[in-house]
Amino acid sequence: MILVTGATGKVGRHVVARLREAGHRVRALSRDPARADLPPDVEVVAGSPGDADASAAALAGVDAAFVCLVGDVEAGARPFAEAIRRAGGVRRLVLLSSSAVLHPVRHRIGDEHRAAEELIGAAAPDATLLRPGPFHTNSLWWAKSIREQGRVRCLVGNNPGAPVDPDDLAAVAVAALTSGEHARRRYELTGPEVLTSAEQVRVISDVLGRDLDFEVAAPEEVVATFASITGDRPAAETNVAALHSPRVPWGRTNGTVERLLGRKPRTFRDWAAEHAHLFR
Ligand SMILES: NC(=O)c1ccc[n+]([C@@H]2O[C@H](COP(=O)([O-])OP(=O)(O)OC[C@H]3O[C@@H](n4cnc5c(N)ncnc54)[C@H](OP(=O)(O)O)[C@@H]3O)[C@@H](O)[C@H]2O)c1
Repeated sequence: MILVTGATGKVGRHVVARLREAGHRVRALSRDPARADLPPDVEVVAGSPGDADASAAALAGVDAAFVCLVGDVEAGARPFAEAIRRAGGVRRLVLLSSSAVLHPVRHRIGDEHRAAEELIGAAAPDATLLRPGPFHTNSLWWAKSIREQGRVRCLVGNNPGAPVDPDDLAAVAVAALTSGEHARRRYELTGPEVLTSAEQVRVISDVLGRDLDFEVAAPEEVVATFASITGDRPAAETNVAALHSPRVPWGRTNGTVERLLGRKPRTFRDWAAEHAHLFR
């Protein structure tokens, strides 16, 4: 039995699908099992990684766990680490972290993921850490304004990135959940090409066969927007400074996904073509 947290999310849903395809039994942790919409053979347990009691119960008897934390990931990691201890440990664990931990500019997202790696790593010393950069799916932030106005007002700046497909992350996660070879490894994971936000919008425009306007929101506006959502202006300031820094660590490709999977990672164009209906 393999536990998948975040099983209804962008990476977790692919992890579930790939584990089932490979014949594994899957238990999923979801805040709302009635709405999880997972296949009937998946055992869905109510809760989230931030709930130590639910997580300890969900970890009982599993061989491996995929851990995806959202929101304040440090706050979620603490109870999950406690749950691992209460469950007497877990043989294999894969934590979906972030390449933000490698950013030379200190910022809240990086700090939280670093703390989560330490907390989970202390409870599960053989954990495999996945450190991806931006996901292909981040472009869905633009889907509504593309559909309705043919434009993108970009809140994350226009730095180069090497966006990665959530399904490739899931494939790496499944490799690490089902084999001992990846114990204690830390994998920085990128897509196959470097694209700025403007270049991603051009790819979507090509795929749709429709011109799209692109503009970048000023950092001060983005700070105000993020702070209004989270109520934490200092965190918003550090996060926006990191996003706009020319030293972002996700602005380069590496061959890790290809080395681990034996095939090239999927391109942003392939992902956009497959999801074109969401932008129409
Ligand atoms: N997006 C990126 O570019 C990127 C890059 C690097 C790393 N990451 C990291 O990848 C992880 C996954 O991020 P994501 O945004 O893609 O997650 P996600 O797939 O949108 O969410 C995963 C699951 O978390 C649960 N969830 C959603 N909101 C929640 C909340 N407020 N409180 C508790 N649970 C909640 C939901 O499951 P249920 O409703 O079923 O409980 C959801 O399916 C995060 O740690 C993120 O920092 C993301």
